[in-house]
Amino acid sequence: MATIFSGVKPTGFPTLGNYLGALKHFVTYQEEHDCYFCVVNQHAITVPQDKLELRANSKKLAALYLAIGIDPDKSTLFIQSEVPAHTKMAWIMQCISYMGELERMTQFKDKSENRVAVSAGLLTYPPLMAADILLYGTNIVPVGEDQKQHLELTRNLAERFNKQYNDIFTIPEVHIPKVGARIMDLGNPNKKMSKSDENVNGYISLLDDEKTIMKKVKRATTDSDMTVKYDKENKPGVSNLLTIYSLCSGKTIEELEQLYEDKGYGEFKNDVAEAIISELKPIQERYETLLNSEDELDEILDRGAEKANFVANKMLAKAERAMGLERKRKKK
Ligand code: TYM
Repeated sequence: MATIFSGVKPTGFPTLGNYLGALKHFVTYQEEHDCYFCVVNQHAITVPQDKLELRANSKKLAALYLAIGIDPDKSTLFIQSEVPAHTKMAWIMQCISYMGELERMTQFKDKSENRVAVSAGLLTYPPLMAADILLYGTNIVPVGEDQKQHLELTRNLAERFNKQYNDIFTIPEVHIPKVGARIMDLGNPNKKMSKSDENVNGYISLLDDEKTIMKKVKRATTDSDMTVKYDKENKPGVSNLLTIYSLCSGKTIEELEQLYEDKGYGEFKNDVAEAIISELKPIQERYETLLNSEDELDEILDRGAEKANFVANKMLAKAERAMGLERKRKKK
């Protein structure tokens, strides 16, 4: 049975991009695999966060994981800071990382650009991510395209450790969906949809109501060509909407192109919005119920942390032993 690990940062509320690129796929693994899904709150603090918001968002994200169909009897759902092995292993990963390779990470470059003060945590974010993954002997990491470079680094760090110390880490494979790996901003389809975007019309939050979704999709940037065709280069806006529509409706992009062959953008956009609404509605309903069952949520997270601590501590002990970090005890 393969082990799956993935995480989402509790900064803001996840978007349709997070859902279609990652969250939606998590559920498909849990029937046949040993799955770990994490609320990676320590990754969130690499940039300043409001304490109360971060605390609330972590719980909300846990409820969302359950609302999309993560079953706590099949998967381990937990909060990163409740498993101290993550930061201990992250220190080990930092010590085997090179400054140059961390500085080359595109997310570090993007996020540190135009900041007056750049935290060291922003630079050492990828070794923490490597720690998250390697602690569980992970075989597969389902993520969106923007995490590909971090996964390459994780593989390199695992191989480096195995060679220098002891062969203990599994080299994880990355799973990036064929369609939807990079959902684009609705206003500017040349950049990815992001929950930290200042322009709220660029993204759809998974909690947006029907009216808001309709309004945002109707406003989405398209082009003056008026044909519903997938052409990422010349028609990035329409291609993005086709991708979203396809994933929310289960119809292929070719089927959709045929369906809208002689129809205008007005009708197309209306139907895209309807498809998103029907995909999100049941999730939103389950989410509201779960968020109101705090005891149940706490019990699930306690159980998740217990299991994650058990597994992670064993791997941490192996890594520490391999490096000579454990105390030599006198034989009795
Ligand atoms: P985060 O919280 O930014 O995003 C969570 C997941 O959503 C995917 N994603 C997208 N997919 C398609 N289109 C988009 N516009 C889009 N935006 C985001 C991301 O690729 C991700 O899969 N570093 C990670 C969290 C993390 C992690 C890990 C993931 C920490 N440790 C270990 C996997 C394994 C992050 O910031 O994700």
